[in-house]
Amino acid sequence: MNYKLLMCGLLLGTASISAMAQSDLLKFDPSRFTRQSLTMPDGQKITYKAYEGIYYVKNIEDSTYQTLNIYVPDKMAETPRIPILLRTYIGGYAASTAKSPSPSDATGRALKEGYVVCIPGSRGSNSTITRNGKTIYTGIAPNGLLDLKAAIRYLRYNNALIPGESELIFTDGTSAGGAMSSLLGATGNCKDYEPYLKKMGAAQAPDDVFAAICYCPITDLNHADMEYEWLYSCTNTGIRHLSEKQIAISEELATECSAYINSLNLIKKDGTPLNAENYREYLKNFLIESAHKALQEGCEIPDTIGFTFYQNRQGPAGGGLGGIHQPKHNNGQRPPLDDRRQAPSFGPGNTRQFSRTSDFISELDLDKYLSYVASITPLKTPPAFDQMGVLIPTPSPENKVFGNNQGESANFTDFSLRHRTHNPKANLDKEMIHRVAIMNPMNYIGTDKSTVAPKWYIRHGAKDRDTSFLVPLNLATKLQNAGKSVNFALPWNRPHSGDYNLDDLFRWIASTL
Ligand code: DHB
Repeated sequence: MNYKLLMCGLLLGTASISAMAQSDLLKFDPSRFTRQSLTMPDGQKITYKAYEGIYYVKNIEDSTYQTLNIYVPDKMAETPRIPILLRTYIGGYAASTAKSPSPSDATGRALKEGYVVCIPGSRGSNSTITRNGKTIYTGIAPNGLLDLKAAIRYLRYNNALIPGESELIFTDGTSAGGAMSSLLGATGNCKDYEPYLKKMGAAQAPDDVFAAICYCPITDLNHADMEYEWLYSCTNTGIRHLSEKQIAISEELATECSAYINSLNLIKKDGTPLNAENYREYLKNFLIESAHKALQEGCEIPDTIGFTFYQNRQGPAGGGLGGIHQPKHNNGQRPPLDDRRQAPSFGPGNTRQFSRTSDFISELDLDKYLSYVASITPLKTPPAFDQMGVLIPTPSPENKVFGNNQGESANFTDFSLRHRTHNPKANLDKEMIHRVAIMNPMNYIGTDKSTVAPKWYIRHGAKDRDTSFLVPLNLATKLQNAGKSVNFALPWNRPHSGDYNLDDLFRWIASTL
């Protein structure tokens, strides 16, 4: 045999094998699993195959976080197409490793239901690597989101090899994780992320999802400060005990919010515009609906937190997004600051409980209710999110995640940048404006820039003060206006938390399939 030809063939062979290996780096290996089990709270043992520590990008920057785990139950659901629950454990915009399923949250429950579970890790504000002796922060925005999108692409790229249907991905997260879930739901296949994903070596596959489960999403970050003050400034001189300087910041932010609310051009369920004038009434409907449901389930609601009860065995009409509870007074206007009531006292002798299913609520004094929320967990001081350098030097989790890869935190709103630098004309630079924009799901819903998930489950506890009620409510309303199916509620007595009422969640999941 011609030696040259043989060498050429060998070389070509080697080259094509390595090219193949290269192109197959993202191929799922169905034979690489361990057998695992977990015991559910009711004692039931769930057994499953665990595929763990899978790298989901070719160009791994941070091997601690850029991996995912997949869990496939032995007893699969009997639905024709099996969904995949993709649960992120991101909290506080920090990094999160790929975790194992837990019997006490949606991951264990999904396995029990016979669904496939994927738990990706992702980089975040505190993840670092050392390069040439220097510490590099790997998880500044939007990197955590990009990792989750790459994980989705991995599932979709390997649809034929991974059990479950990658066109039926349900993303699930709480708080910053809820924000990520909302972004995954809102930004599917969007070109804005393509250059980053390409650089990371993410799979060439779609990244839109079927459904997004969002518990208390800490999102709309560049408006969250004004939304917080617009809602809670009524407590500034009451339970919040703000200083004069804090009140000035609070009122400046609150004033900016009305224009923002109006700019959203949202529509209520009855077809009329939602605006800054009628927004408080809109919000009250959801809080009243939440309290009604609690009353009907036998909960006790104190009569000191703002609700007015009436007795009527027929109950109220309406319910759902834009329910038709009719306010008796207040005419949809914010009362003037000095007219607002002080927080109620919660001494034992002062709490008459209502637990009668024949009692219904005719009205809610929103300021009183907001003071009640603030009495449970003290409110954040203004600005609640972009706080660094305005009145205190300390960076918030959001300042950190919008920082640079040297670990320096940054402002992400003109408002806070101007206050920190004492330059009323200061503006965020182009790069920051872009990073902030691609971290906000509100910029994609109702546009043709992305494939938005058709199904949404959004929850924000009725006593959760980590962000303004306006944030989840605007998100839900905008999605509904865009024709998406939205299951939204402010569950009674829930603080900042997630993956609760799993019966309700899994009933909803089944209903969407
Ligand atoms: C989280 C909570 C916050 O209040 C916040 O500002 C950011 C993140 C969280 O729990 O993830």
